[in-house]
Amino acid sequence: MNVLFLGDVVGRPGRAAVCSRLSELVRQHEIDFTIANAENAAGGLGLTASTAEELLDAGVDVLTTGNHIWRHREMADYLETEHRVLRPANFPPGAPGRGADVYMTAHSGPVGVLCVIGRVFMEPLDCPFRSADREIQALRGKTSTIVVDVHAEATSEKIAMGRYLDSRVSAVIGTHTHVQTADERTLAGGTAYITDVGMSGPRESILGVTPEPVIDRFLTGMPSRFQVAKGPITLNGVVVDIDPETGTARSIARVVESIELES
Ligand SMILES: [Fe+2]
Ligand SMILES: [Fe+2]
Repeated sequence: MNVLFLGDVVGRPGRAAVCSRLSELVRQHEIDFTIANAENAAGGLGLTASTAEELLDAGVDVLTTGNHIWRHREMADYLETEHRVLRPANFPPGAPGRGADVYMTAHSGPVGVLCVIGRVFMEPLDCPFRSADREIQALRGKTSTIVVDVHAEATSEKIAMGRYLDSRVSAVIGTHTHVQTADERTLAGGTAYITDVGMSGPRESILGVTPEPVIDRFLTGMPSRFQVAKGPITLNGVVVDIDPETGTARSIARVVESIELES
């Protein structure tokens, strides 16, 4: 089974790139299931019902998210009804929505998807490692194919999650930094791993937004308003080939595309 995982989709340009390229990527890589991190899909920060629908209608099967999930208030109700959109599982009890679920593919059986968020250089939440333990135990009764989005800042925390979950899940895919790392590999226990899958958004930018206000903020320490950048898009992802019988990853390969969209 081939799973495509796309890095943080940033704003309208990121959505447009995913919508225009997804069917070709699915054909080219014989994709059975597509996951995209959508925490920046609405105007560069957060997600709305309409931007989520746009990506789901384009063929993304599941949207994972991260620290910007509650940016738009409508998400609290939306996540209660739309099970294809996940929030990090390690929000404290009482948070709306779910952090993991099982989804059916057309030809390769069920896939479990889990999203957790790191705590290093981020808002403190419940322990992502123990939350992953709990969620994986629940998923394993339903499928051996499990893909984990570890949404975190620190490379150490993401590598630790990969090692911790090695042999228990099919893939541990890092998100949040918007910069793709070149360390994709299959770990000793058969879990595919990459520290960060990267971004689907404007290439001539700082993490998807126009550079000048970001540089100003670094120079002056003053708040400034960020805007999603324009121009060519970089579409970053990985394709993970998984044996659906065992849940073991056979391979992981990075996908990097440059896309010029008509503006
Ligand atoms: Fe992000
Ligand atoms: Fe994030």
